[in-house]
Amino acid sequence: MLLYIHIPFCDSKCFYCSFNSYTNLFHLKSSYMKALNQQLQHELLKTNTALKSIFIGGGTPSSVEAELYNPIFLSLKNFIDNKTEITIEANPNSTTKDWLKNIKNLGVNRVSFGVQTFNNDKLKFLGRNHDREMAINSVNLAHQVGFKDINLDIIYDTAIDTEELIDNDLEIIKTLPVNHLSAYSLTIEEGTKFFKKPNVRIENIDMAQYIFDKLKDFGFTQYEISNFSKDKNSRSRHNFGYWEKDDYLGVGAGAVGCIGNIRYYPEKDVEKYISNPIHYESIETLDNEDIKFERIFLGLRSLAGIPVDFFDHHEMKKIKILEDEKKIHIHDNIVFNNDFLLSDEIALYINSH
Ligand SMILES: C[S@@+](CC[C@H](N)C(=O)[O-])C[C@H]1O[C@@H](n2cnc3c(N)ncnc32)[C@H](O)[C@@H]1O
Ligand code: SF4
Repeated sequence: MLLYIHIPFCDSKCFYCSFNSYTNLFHLKSSYMKALNQQLQHELLKTNTALKSIFIGGGTPSSVEAELYNPIFLSLKNFIDNKTEITIEANPNSTTKDWLKNIKNLGVNRVSFGVQTFNNDKLKFLGRNHDREMAINSVNLAHQVGFKDINLDIIYDTAIDTEELIDNDLEIIKTLPVNHLSAYSLTIEEGTKFFKKPNVRIENIDMAQYIFDKLKDFGFTQYEISNFSKDKNSRSRHNFGYWEKDDYLGVGAGAVGCIGNIRYYPEKDVEKYISNPIHYESIETLDNEDIKFERIFLGLRSLAGIPVDFFDHHEMKKIKILEDEKKIHIHDNIVFNNDFLLSDEIALYINSH
């Protein structure tokens, strides 16, 4: 069982971001954290299963004081052990040494920084409220307080990317104490500032391949289309859990949970959530076809792969063709994709009738 906890507060809204986060609701912070704990206890009691990993994401979890997380960690005590991966997202502008120390003392063992780039012009272009020095400083602080597992999020495929800019970013990453990277191609989402602005995204597959190759040279293995790790142990267990379709609890306004074929959505509106945190805005029953397609789709995007017994006779014929074309390979009865950049295409081909 995995657990995702959502923190819906941000100091400013980035131009590309459509996540459920608000800049004007900080006055609700402590009541929100109480509500969060109430829903958490409810979910834990209902499922009563140990947690393999926890991801506290946002929004901006570092905009909430470490002490406000205390009750949550008390509730979690009987469901975690020292092997549970516990990640928290942090923004360079709000991360302090004390916050990192306190959050570590609570049991968090992995920090994920939303860096996006180290180039100040690109940071402005994306609407970020930190600069290069703040980003470098916060990563170093996390290392100083003893975090061994540190991730950086970066974004590419923006209109202002050049090979030089990307090279400079990668050279800085190389010098930092990080063992994981999530590199995302910019997506243009409805309701964001970028949605109304033309030409902010330029897709460049050659640049993506260039980034992947360069990261490989720096010792980062790509284990999913957007995820890279220094070694097997530093891969995110939480990510793998999603791709292998583990059950997950979703706690917080706008979080999503999925147990078996039931996907549930807690209230998205923060005030409504606080007034009744154990009420779901909606519940969806997934049919077997949806589950199967999602499993294929996620398995092809990552080194999780897909067990061969997952496929029917008709699909196995296509798998054979793809294998002959060297687009996929089969190892220990698991089907693996040879090129993550082709994963969507391959998933659609397997799924076609
Ligand atoms: C949900 S955000 C939260 C992280 C944290 N608040 C931060 O931004 O520093 C997680 C990551 O998703 C990525 N992301 C969000 N919106 C995106 C978009 N439209 N295109 C590409 N990546 C995006 C960013 O890299 C971001 O760091
Ligand atoms: S990218 Fe992160 S900091 Fe920016 S608005 Fe989204 S959640 Fe907030």
